[in-house]
Amino acid sequence: MNAPTVAEFDTLDTLALDFERRATNKTLTVGVIGLGYVGLPLAQAFCRQDIRVIGFDVSEFKIKELSEGRSYIKHIKDEAVKVMIDTDRFEATTDFDRLDEPDALLICVPTPLDKHRDPDLDYVIKSTEAISKKLRRGQIVVLESTTYPGTSEEVMKPILEGASGLVAGLDFAIAYSPEREDPGNPQFETSTIPKVVGANTSAETRMAVTIYQQIVPQVVPVRDLRTAEAVKLTENIYRAVNIGLVNELKTVYGAMGIDVWEVIQAASTKPFGFHAFYPGPGLGGHCIPIDPFYLSWKAREFGLSTRFIELAGEVNNAMPGSVVNTVAEELSTRLEKSLKGARVLLCGLAYKKNVDDMRESPSLLLLEQLEARGAVVDYYDPHIPVVPYDHDHPEYEGRKSVNWTPESLSQFDVALIATDHDKVDYGLLLNSVPFVVDTRNATAMLQNEHEDRIVKA
Ligand SMILES: NC(=O)c1ccc[n+]([C@@H]2O[C@H](COP(=O)([O-])OP(=O)(O)OC[C@H]3O[C@@H](n4cnc5c(N)ncnc54)[C@H](O)[C@@H]3O)[C@@H](O)[C@H]2O)c1
Repeated sequence: MNAPTVAEFDTLDTLALDFERRATNKTLTVGVIGLGYVGLPLAQAFCRQDIRVIGFDVSEFKIKELSEGRSYIKHIKDEAVKVMIDTDRFEATTDFDRLDEPDALLICVPTPLDKHRDPDLDYVIKSTEAISKKLRRGQIVVLESTTYPGTSEEVMKPILEGASGLVAGLDFAIAYSPEREDPGNPQFETSTIPKVVGANTSAETRMAVTIYQQIVPQVVPVRDLRTAEAVKLTENIYRAVNIGLVNELKTVYGAMGIDVWEVIQAASTKPFGFHAFYPGPGLGGHCIPIDPFYLSWKAREFGLSTRFIELAGEVNNAMPGSVVNTVAEELSTRLEKSLKGARVLLCGLAYKKNVDDMRESPSLLLLEQLEARGAVVDYYDPHIPVVPYDHDHPEYEGRKSVNWTPESLSQFDVALIATDHDKVDYGLLLNSVPFVVDTRNATAMLQNEHEDRIVKA
C-alpha cells in the first residue's frame, strides 16, 4: 500500500489551523497580484500590520517605481512606499515564478467590459493561470476584482485545479472578497472599511476571515463565493440606479424651474428612509458605469433581463448630450453665439472630485461631443496637469491644463464645470467668464452674488 501523501493526511481544516496560528505570529506572507488603485493600498494595509507582502504586477514600470520607493498613485505618498520597502515588509516583482512563496494570494487585476460591453475576464484568467502553475497545498487564492456571480467557481476553480492537480476545499482554498476602496474619500481607507468574504467551505471561510482580520476592524463572512460576488455588484448597481434616478429628477425638475440640489438637500434632513445621491454630467469611474453590466450579462444565461440596470444606463448615458445641449442653448441666448467656434473651458477632467483618475470620466464624452459640434475646448484640472494616455481616447494625450489666471480665463465664452474639485477658486472663474454651466453645484456658495451667471445643468 502506498504511504499516505501529505494531501491525504492533512485536511484543509488542519491547514487552516496552521494558517490561523501563523497569522497570530505574523509569519504569514501575503501576495498581492495587480498593484493598482486597489492592490497597492491593500499591500500597504498589510505592511502597516507588520505582515510581509510580495506585490506582483505585469507592469515593469510600476515594479521599478515601487522598488525604488516611488508611488504612481496620487493619494499614496512616496514616503509610504519607502517605509514599506525600507522595513523589508514589501517587495515588488514581475517574477510570477515566486507565486508559491505567499500563503495568501489576493488578486486585484482589472475587470473591464470588452468592445461588445460584455465582461472581459482576460486579466483574471491570466493571473489565475500564473497562480495555477505554482499553486501549493495550504495556499488561499482570493479574488478581489469586481465580477459576476460564478466567476470564482466556474472560471477560476477549474484553472487552478486543472494545472495543479490540487482540489479546492481539500488542498487549497478559494475565496472572494470584494474591494470597497473609495479613492479620494478622506473618511475611509482600506483598513477602515469592513470586508465581506465568501467561500464554499468552513475551512476556506476561516482562512479568508483570518487574512482580512489582520487589516480591517470587521470581516463579514457570507454563505459562499457567489453570494460575496453578488454583494459587490449589488452595492454598485444600487449606486448606478440611484444616480440614474436623480439624473432623471434633475431633468424633470429643471424643466419645472425647481433646483434639484435644494430638493436633495432638504430631503436629506429626513432621518430615515432617504439616502442622498447627486446628479452629474454622466456616470464615471472604473466601477459604477461598468460593473452593473456584469450582472446583466450573467442574467441572460438565466433568460432574465435587468431592466433597472438598462434604464439607469440609458438615463446616465444621455447626460453628457443633455449638458452639451444646455451649453449650446445658453451660448445662443446669452451671447448670440453658436457652439461652433465658441471657446469652452471644461473644468475638471477627473471622473470625481479631488482625484486624478479620468477613467470612464464623463468629461471625456463632454470634450468629444463639444468638439464634434465645432467648439474650441480647453480644460482645467488641478489634479491632471497633462492628459495621460487613455486607451479609449488616445487622441487627448499630452493636452495641458490652462493657467488659472484672470487673463487666461477671460478668453473663454463659457466654463462648463464637470468635476467639483475642492482646490478650485470658483469665484475667480465667475468673475472672469461671461457665464458658467455647473453640473455639480460647485458654485452653490457663490449663487447669491453671481446668480445671473450660473446655469445649473
Ligand atoms: N479603483 C477603485 O476604486 C475600485 C474600487 C472597488 C473595486 N475595484 C475593482 O478592483 C479591480 C482592480 O481595479 P484597479 O482600479 O485597482 O485597477 P488598476 O488598473 O488600477 O490596477 C490593476 C493592476 O493590475 C495589473 N495587472 C494587469 N494584468 C495583470 C496580471 N495578469 N498579473 C498581475 N498584474 C496585472 C496592472 O498592471 C495594474 O497595475 C477591478 O476589478 C475593479 O473593478 C476598483
